[in-house]
Amino acid sequence: MTVLPTRLDPGSPDYAAHRTAMLDKLAGLDAEHAKALAGGGPKYVERHRKRGKLLARERIELLLDPDSAFLELSPLAAWGSDYPVGAGLVTGIGVVAGTECLITANDPTVRGGASNPWTLRKALRANEIALRNRLPLINLVESGGADLPSQKEIFIPGGALFRDLTRLSAAGIPTVAVVFGNSTAGGAYVPGMSDHTVMVKERAKVFLGGPPLVKMATGEESDDESLGGAEMHARTSGLADFFAADEQDAIRLARRIVHRLHWRRAGAAPDPLAEAPKYDEEELLGIVPGDLKVPFDPREVIARIVDGSDFDEFKPLYGTSLATGWATLHGYPVGILANAQGVLFSAESQKAAQFIQLANQRDIPLLFLHNTTGYMVGKDYEQGGIIKHGAMMINAVANSTVPHISVLMGSSYGAGHYGMCGRAYDPRFLFAWPSAKSAVMGPQQLAGVLSIVARQSAAAKGAPYDEDADAAIRAMVEQQIEAESLPAFLSGRLYDDGVIDPRDTRTVLGLCLSAIHNAPVEGARGYGVFRM
Ligand code: COA
Repeated sequence: MTVLPTRLDPGSPDYAAHRTAMLDKLAGLDAEHAKALAGGGPKYVERHRKRGKLLARERIELLLDPDSAFLELSPLAAWGSDYPVGAGLVTGIGVVAGTECLITANDPTVRGGASNPWTLRKALRANEIALRNRLPLINLVESGGADLPSQKEIFIPGGALFRDLTRLSAAGIPTVAVVFGNSTAGGAYVPGMSDHTVMVKERAKVFLGGPPLVKMATGEESDDESLGGAEMHARTSGLADFFAADEQDAIRLARRIVHRLHWRRAGAAPDPLAEAPKYDEEELLGIVPGDLKVPFDPREVIARIVDGSDFDEFKPLYGTSLATGWATLHGYPVGILANAQGVLFSAESQKAAQFIQLANQRDIPLLFLHNTTGYMVGKDYEQGGIIKHGAMMINAVANSTVPHISVLMGSSYGAGHYGMCGRAYDPRFLFAWPSAKSAVMGPQQLAGVLSIVARQSAAAKGAPYDEDADAAIRAMVEQQIEAESLPAFLSGRLYDDGVIDPRDTRTVLGLCLSAIHNAPVEGARGYGVFRM
């Protein structure tokens, strides 16, 4: 039998404490997510409604098939910055006319839907997800274009938005622009570079320069409608393929466009007989200790996310601080790598490198469940070749071409974050639990290293060392690194695709695996040189 047993006791004090800690963190994150949902706040939402317009999320809801899921991405973008949480853009994956699509919608209640540096990063990430997973892209457009005060951050890199649209098209991935309002200057290239365009009567405004700019440039007198109205573009310029009577009509037309794509997924279909896990997903709240120094068994997590809790463990007796093995999730085969005791030693690294190569030989996607403090340090380990072995694992991850998904459950520190397919290793999707922490090392360790370096520097100069100042600096550094390691902070910087409720993990992973299988799944047959 390969069905995982469980040792988790939902009646135990430990379980109750872990659950309470997780629920507290979830409540904090809910408050931050609510800020994204609130958009520009009541004043601007009210004004938008008075103009007879739908909100960004209402447009998405109408576009999606009734009662289908929407996997929102990067909802906390811009958290901790000077810009509103959510960055004035909603992005995610949803089903339109039976087809999984990547959808983006400007939120015109947030500074006129203008794009700030975080909006740009969020939009570029959405485009990347569409390209790599071969998802048709639908942009619901109403934006004041570049956020003018921050133009220096966005003007030059922002050209990638329009480049991506035409590269998607060249890769055979359909792009659709539905214009609900302003789409001027650079924004005009969103419909301009899309395969299909819909514009809303008397609402869409698509021009390179509005009437004041035209007056300044050439002296010509003009008005919005004749310069860039939907009717003009449908009848005269030919930029609009469809002239929609109103917003609802535009959404109906977008659904028809997707229907007519007759989109075919290039990846394998899931096993339709996939079983639910044997254990309750609710119990995922009680596994991770509030204090991440206390280890937990990731098999308890695996048992609650994979089909039938069935996990064929690979090398269970070797390199036991990393659990590796095969399972299916919502009917899709996956290879799983999960940190079991925090530290990665040589054996774990070699086992991971072998396992990743096997997944590539068999074209099986990989799931990385993070709870690592990094690779082991110390004389014995250095002499035993930990750098070589860590490099082997990182080589295997970096050159693997099967899709990767990472979930940060607990710690994800140091090069361990890289070996476990951190952000820079291009996982197709990366999500964090509210309990996650990620940084170059733990806050205490980092503050301690700085203190040792400062002490040595003072000694080298023969200067006295101020112990009180040292203690104060250590406390300050610890606090700063702790704050910068937290999921909201990292999500704000687009270092993940969202912070999820652990109870939603199986659903989120199922949606990701389904999206991933729009593209073919092909492992790498060749590798970089492994240092042995
Ligand atoms: N950059 C920075 N802030 C912008 C902005 C932009 N491109 N566009 C709008 N805003 C701000 C406004 O200053 C306003 O802020 P406030 O409420 O604090 O005063 C807020 O967003 C709402 O704008 P408002 O003009 O009241 O909204 P609207 O719905 O009536 O009109 C636009 C929206 C987008 C049509 C209009 O704001 C506009 O024409 N903006 C400039 C467009 C432009 O030329 N962009 C350059 C593209 S490269």
